[in-house]
Amino acid sequence: MAKAPAKKPAAAAKAPATPSKSSAASNGHAGPSVQPVLNQQFDAPAPLQKYGTVSQRLPIGLDEKTRQQSVNNLNQLLADTITLRDLYKKHHWQVVGPTFYQLHLLYDKHYEEQSALVDTIAERIQILGGVAVAMAHDVAELTSIPRPPRDREEAPIQVGRLLEAHQIILKNAHKFAKEADDSGDDGTNDLAVSDVMRLNELQVWFVSEHVVDTPLARTE
Ligand SMILES: [Fe+2]
Repeated sequence: MAKAPAKKPAAAAKAPATPSKSSAASNGHAGPSVQPVLNQQFDAPAPLQKYGTVSQRLPIGLDEKTRQQSVNNLNQLLADTITLRDLYKKHHWQVVGPTFYQLHLLYDKHYEEQSALVDTIAERIQILGGVAVAMAHDVAELTSIPRPPRDREEAPIQVGRLLEAHQIILKNAHKFAKEADDSGDDGTNDLAVSDVMRLNELQVWFVSEHVVDTPLARTE
């Protein structure tokens, strides 16, 4: 078993040098001379598709008006879901108090579940011919969930903040599911109900059960 690779070095030595290898050698560099072209975005032509528009490329049996409405609604759900996902991670890191370990684990579980939902919503937007909002700057402008402070907060305040965010998403999901149903976009209706509503309602249950009579935040 140890003797088997003995022939390899001999075979490698016989192989002729490739042009890139000889060029690399003459440059005094170890790797090939091919370099990535950076900064291409500064003189690029128009983008493939502008954000806010809807392409009709995929034959999925839905008209442009329906797709446009669903894409707009889904981008709102997406921005809010990304924000809630990140709120869970913030709270996972910053949680404090007697329920630290439970909440630390629960917040991360919910973060992972919201993260999967983010992908589901974004890919539905692309399927409909839209452009999914993605970057933090754009998400911050679009989301309807209030911005939390950078500071570390008490656990009951974290819980309240999360429940408010869930409720904003759930109210929108009900409205958007109805609109998708009325326009005949069954796939978006199903996503809003089966994915967004079911997950958010379940997480509201788990988080709400941490609301107890003993106020952990008051010091009087
Ligand atoms: Fe962690």
